[in-house]
Amino acid sequence: MSERDWDESYRKGVPPWDPGDYDAHLPRVLADHRIVPGRALDIGCGEGKSALYLAGYGFTCTGIDVAPSAIETAKSRAAESGILACDFRVGSFPEDVDRPDDGYDFIMDRGLFHILRESTDTGRYLDKVCELLAPNGVYYTLMAKLEGATNGGGPPKWTENEVRAAFEPKMQVRELRADRFFPRDPDSMPGWVVVAGAAE
Ligand SMILES: C[S@@+](CC[C@H](N)C(=O)[O-])C[C@H]1O[C@@H](n2cnc3c(N)ncnc32)[C@H](O)[C@@H]1O
Repeated sequence: MSERDWDESYRKGVPPWDPGDYDAHLPRVLADHRIVPGRALDIGCGEGKSALYLAGYGFTCTGIDVAPSAIETAKSRAAESGILACDFRVGSFPEDVDRPDDGYDFIMDRGLFHILRESTDTGRYLDKVCELLAPNGVYYTLMAKLEGATNGGGPPKWTENEVRAAFEPKMQVRELRADRFFPRDPDSMPGWVVVAGAAE
């Protein structure tokens, strides 16, 4: 999809991928991997609910998205909630993101990385994630899973082998968990929770 198409999805109303709230896996991922609040980045942050959750958790968070309408909504939400620790920007990953001096302690992406299989840009994406991470930084992404998927629509679906083949040359996978996009809804899209750090 082009930047204009993404923006159009938000301008038309609630897009189908909208979580309604912050990403449901986020609290567990932060707790299980003992991720201490620092600097965070949400890539393809959409309307910003997960980034705002991270700010509430204690992170200083940057959210980036190519869709200006989504970023406008995210900024309004931050202003309404009085949250100052979130910086929302219109921009494209990887080219529009620079590394802060000490890197990011936590980088997340709900539903963007998995789309890139179609454009074969996954290597470039993960190289940039590794460049941006602080030395002990953690990356988390939620991806569509092929096994158990009931229809061919939606984003590209990945097998476990494909996930490992994309990540393992570049990163150390710390968790690869079969779950769902909405963990409490057994009918929601099967997903992979992937948590990784830079390879040693
Ligand atoms: C499937 S949506 C997920 C949005 C959000 N993470 C969520 O869970 O609601 C993918 C998002 O990535 C954004 N996007 C697409 N390509 C991008 C790029 N190259 N850089 C930054 N954002 C991008 C889209 O505008 C869209 O908001």
